[in-house]
Amino acid sequence: MTPRELIALATARLAEHGVPSPAHDARSLLRHVLGERPLELIDEVSDPDVDAYIALLARRALREPLQHILGEATFRYSQLVIARGAFVPRPETEIVAGAAIEWLAEREVPRVVDLCTGSGAIAAAIADEVPGAQTWAVELSKEAAAVAQQNLEPRGVMLVLGDAADALPELDGTIDAVISNPPYIPDGAIPRDPEVTEWDPPAALYGGGPDGEDIPRAVAARAAALLRDGGLFVMEHGDLQGESMRALVAATGAFEAIETGRDLTDRDRYVRAIRRRR
Ligand SMILES: C[S@@+](CC[C@H](N)C(=O)[O-])C[C@H]1O[C@@H](n2cnc3c(N)ncnc32)[C@H](O)[C@@H]1O
Repeated sequence: MTPRELIALATARLAEHGVPSPAHDARSLLRHVLGERPLELIDEVSDPDVDAYIALLARRALREPLQHILGEATFRYSQLVIARGAFVPRPETEIVAGAAIEWLAEREVPRVVDLCTGSGAIAAAIADEVPGAQTWAVELSKEAAAVAQQNLEPRGVMLVLGDAADALPELDGTIDAVISNPPYIPDGAIPRDPEVTEWDPPAALYGGGPDGEDIPRAVAARAAALLRDGGLFVMEHGDLQGESMRALVAATGAFEAIETGRDLTDRDRYVRAIRRRR
């Protein structure tokens, strides 16, 4: 069969299993099997390659996330290793990271902290896109930190295994920007997709408390301490949490210019604020 015929069959199969972007995933998996060669230049896929493709499709049909099957993810301009125990970075977080990167682009040798780094996606993007940035990343889960280590060590980001609530006290008052995508789902809310419920670690999802905002509250307090006067704080949240997250940041008493940023679907997605003068 030609790649085109295989992809058509695979797309139909993935769609039957409710995979949200079947054509994209069918194509990505075939590329993964066939390696560097452009699909357009291949007349016929060999039997061993078809068998390998069918095996990967079966995993995706069972709703294993594409990034776990490939062992990698693209986040903005960065290529990341992904493995069990690490949250798969999401497209909306690319916008959140972008809000900070835009601000950082105008600063020389900025010092940046990514709290709740997971796979290290945000810190890696900063290292790749902000020349000269000095970046630290904090993660509580050993499994996620092991993945982050693979992504961050080659990029010169310093990774700390610890609690975002009290990490890096030696940096207090010296940081230009704190960025975070913490867990923020309320207790009791159950995500819909099996890719999330079966693959993302619960510690990456639930923010604590009926509003899911215990960890975000601790992150905001930590950011207030880490930032220098005039420094930037950016934190992702759920699309219904815009107002409550602005209130949570205001309640620290440490921030001004507190605003909500929106994602590409025009939903509330992150809070942005500036450290007030002490
Ligand atoms: C929603 S995931 C985001 C990961 C990454 N920032 C991203 O955007 O792809 C949240 C991460 O926070 C970590 N985490 C949860 N509680 C934490 C805490 N108290 N201190 C540090 N990290 C924490 C989880 O293990 C998980 O890796």
